[in-house]
Amino acid sequence: MLLKIPAVLSKEQIAQGRAVLEAAEWVDGNVTAGYQSSQEKNNIQLPEESTAARQVGDMILEALAKQLTFMSAALPCKIFPPLFNCYQNGHAFGAHVDNAVRYVKGTPVKIRTDLSMTLFFSGPEEYEGGELVIEDTYGSHKAKLAAGDMLLYPSTSLHHVTPVSSGRRLASFFWLESMVRSDEQRRILFDLDRSLQKIRLETPDHVELVPLTSVYHNLLRQWVST
Ligand code: NI
Repeated sequence: MLLKIPAVLSKEQIAQGRAVLEAAEWVDGNVTAGYQSSQEKNNIQLPEESTAARQVGDMILEALAKQLTFMSAALPCKIFPPLFNCYQNGHAFGAHVDNAVRYVKGTPVKIRTDLSMTLFFSGPEEYEGGELVIEDTYGSHKAKLAAGDMLLYPSTSLHHVTPVSSGRRLASFFWLESMVRSDEQRRILFDLDRSLQKIRLETPDHVELVPLTSVYHNLLRQWVST
């Protein structure tokens, strides 16, 4: 499931985050690439342990914890500390699939990458090209979202970033391990949860709400691993 989560960060948070990112020291993006993706990757990024990355990353994680659509769709178990990249002067990232397992530097934590996230810090009007293109069984899907919006997509997907021919594209990218490993099962739970939320809003005393909520939790119990 590909899902756009709008306005994860407010305009003020984006401005604040950009000020920190712009003052930071950037390095070659291949520091976090595996062998296959390093052949395709051409951009710059903040080192994982950089103070600026941790500061803005924590702001993102705090905002996501309050995002009901994200929590319902992703059912996160472990989230990788957000990384940051910058594409300019023709930078691009050819077709690749993200590494299956990510190790959090300096810790014993490892994360199976079920879902990938890209949170845009630059608006689409600020650069040419720089589309995130994701392949699935229904073809290619292009994303170039507003600053503050985030795309959530299965880490199993082949994807690439088209060359940025002018301007600059700043974004955060990271991964998560979900409590529900299967994309299909997560989708069923998300659909059911969305319907339940709607009924709760429109008919809060609906007699079927309690039994349907039980079905949601009993399905989750079948599929969850924590
Ligand atoms: Ni990738």
